[in-house]
Amino acid sequence: MQVLVLHGPNLNLLGTREPEVYGTQTLAQIDAELSTIATEAGATLITFQSNHEGALVDRIQAARSDGTRVIIINPAAYTHTSVAIRDALAGVALPFIEVHLSNIHRREAFRHHSYLSDLAVGVICGLGANGYRLALRHALESLGTGA
Ligand code: DQA
Repeated sequence: MQVLVLHGPNLNLLGTREPEVYGTQTLAQIDAELSTIATEAGATLITFQSNHEGALVDRIQAARSDGTRVIIINPAAYTHTSVAIRDALAGVALPFIEVHLSNIHRREAFRHHSYLSDLAVGVICGLGANGYRLALRHALESLGTGA
């Protein structure tokens, strides 16, 4: 069972990027914890971060034929702008969970709308890095691998 975790632009800066908003864990630390959870459940975790919309679209398209069963995605700023990422997720028709570290609804108005949420299995926001872990546990559970 393979889970793909996608991180959008600027999330490579986690740890030092606005820590009061996004926490102090680095992306590598978050990904390592997710890998441990997946491995313990007998699943495979693939992670991918890009600052480029097209690279994220390409990675989503590749997920259709690489064995991915579910996608966890923090599209970061593309959440609020990207019809292309929405269309890619709709196109591959894989279930996905949308995650945001911060509570986007408590922030600027332009962050309140997501181009993805109505297609997502679920959305977690405002729980920091724990949101990724909860999303992964749900994905593993719903796919029947425990965790
Ligand atoms: C974010 C929220 C977005 O509005 C922002 O552009 C990000 C990160 C979050 O994880 O809270 O880069 O997706």
